[in-house]
Amino acid sequence: MSKEATQKPAMAWWETAVVYQVYIRSFRDGDGDGLGDLAGLRARLPYLASLGIQALWINPWYPSPMADAGYDVADYRDIEPSFGTLAEGEELISEAHALGLKVVLDIVPNHTSSEHAWFKAALQGDSQARARYIFRPGKGDNGELPPNDWESNFGGPAWTRLLDAEGLEGEWYLHLFAPEQPDLDWTNPEVRFEFEDILRFWFDRDVDGFRIDVAHGLSKAEGLPDFGVQPDAPVHSEPHPAWDQDDVHEIYRGWRKVADSYDPPRIFVAEAWVANNERLANYLRPDELHTAFQFDFLRAPWRAKVMREVIDDATDSAAEVGAPSTWVLSNHDVVRHVTRYARSQPPALSESVWVRAQWDKEPADLELGLRRARAAIMLTLALPGTAYLYQGEEFGLAEVEDIPSELRQDPMWWQSGYTDPGRDGCRVPLPWSGDQPPFGFSPEGATKSPWLPQPKSWATRTQEALENDPDSILNLYRAALRLRTELLEGMTPPEWIDSPADVLAFRRGDVECWVNTGDVGIQLPDKRVLLRSDDGVEGGQLPSDAAAWLVDT
Ligand code: GLC
Repeated sequence: MSKEATQKPAMAWWETAVVYQVYIRSFRDGDGDGLGDLAGLRARLPYLASLGIQALWINPWYPSPMADAGYDVADYRDIEPSFGTLAEGEELISEAHALGLKVVLDIVPNHTSSEHAWFKAALQGDSQARARYIFRPGKGDNGELPPNDWESNFGGPAWTRLLDAEGLEGEWYLHLFAPEQPDLDWTNPEVRFEFEDILRFWFDRDVDGFRIDVAHGLSKAEGLPDFGVQPDAPVHSEPHPAWDQDDVHEIYRGWRKVADSYDPPRIFVAEAWVANNERLANYLRPDELHTAFQFDFLRAPWRAKVMREVIDDATDSAAEVGAPSTWVLSNHDVVRHVTRYARSQPPALSESVWVRAQWDKEPADLELGLRRARAAIMLTLALPGTAYLYQGEEFGLAEVEDIPSELRQDPMWWQSGYTDPGRDGCRVPLPWSGDQPPFGFSPEGATKSPWLPQPKSWATRTQEALENDPDSILNLYRAALRLRTELLEGMTPPEWIDSPADVLAFRRGDVECWVNTGDVGIQLPDKRVLLRSDDGVEGGQLPSDAAAWLVDT
């Protein structure tokens, strides 16, 4: 037993869990319509449990016109019909629990769908409904200019003008994302009451927690002032009147009370893209949220020095508020890390996860990316706190960068004026088996092809193919997850070990983790190799772009 396990009191599941992100549209299609669904997910729950994860986070599964792949919610208390029914959702929750998996849903409180009953009523002139959104008169002589200079996260202005009751151009409404995602006005108590009630609706159905979508966006600066023109400022790096306002914390204090009123208490993880870890820690105060994604880790290049700074910064600031760190390498919004690591690496933390249109500038060396991804998961799973895995990373999937333009579905593609290809490339339906599309994503006799085309090269990346190869990345994930549960769980920060500049080396409990991000191999200390990222790790050597976990002989 590790020292840590003998010395520490039992930890709550959310302080140590590895959580697997299910992007339901692309996970598995049970009914053959080319879209992933609850039946497909339920059939694969035993597979997920067999990986050695502790929880699932399921992307929004509510009824939605899918203007932004379900992040435009039309009804927060039901399930999207093309995914299944509420009864099936309840079954899924209890089946997951029976397999020892917690279930975390995704709540989208910053905006509703424009098809939500509230917004439809607002459009019909219902003033009470209108007051739940952010409608404002325009600027200019005839109100023809947007009320302020804010831009949508997907590109273009964050305001859309509507016709008034007489059919004339009227007020504008705010949407920090697509026009089909009107922002709610969180200064309105009705909005607060509604969302606390939605939380209870799902907690009463045994949901273990929520990932909070754009948790940093709900409160806007009073008077909605202009941001000012800062064209080169990286995303969310400058204080912006739409993001990370101090008033937002009061909302989460209310949510925490709701979560704590359940036995066992329910939990939250924040998606908050804020300027730095001090700002992030504000969301993690004891009466607010439990955890928040640590996105600097995902923005870090494959460079030991930068990664070490990010790890120290994240663990220090999490320790200050007593929260676990929450590591992520990939999710449904960013370029898959196999591909991020397959090109030249920027010198410092970058916005590179957002810069998608790289393939015409520099070819991707996917073999290199995969080697690094294998080492990266060993790094991630050796770190304290919790980790999130994105579906398909256990198959070593790369970003699909050549989806034909006419098949792209992400609003980012058109809202950016066709300059940003958007996020479809990390959302392609998973390959499970067989040697040609749909690779077992849809059942035999499916009536439709998968909603995004799968590359033919995925024949070697199916679960079936990888399961049968003892050295596959899938089997590396299984081994690393098993060993992590036995030896590496907990919140103790890494103790760094002297090592060459391009190498990350630290001890946690009885295990040393060594990761070589440099170009030349190094000599490892004389210890037993518990796990290695590839078979180049032998004879005490750690080659470039490889990782090893070591224990005393
Ligand atoms: C979050 C989601 C993203 C979505 C956006 C708007 O960033 O992760 O997929 O488009 O919020 O809801």
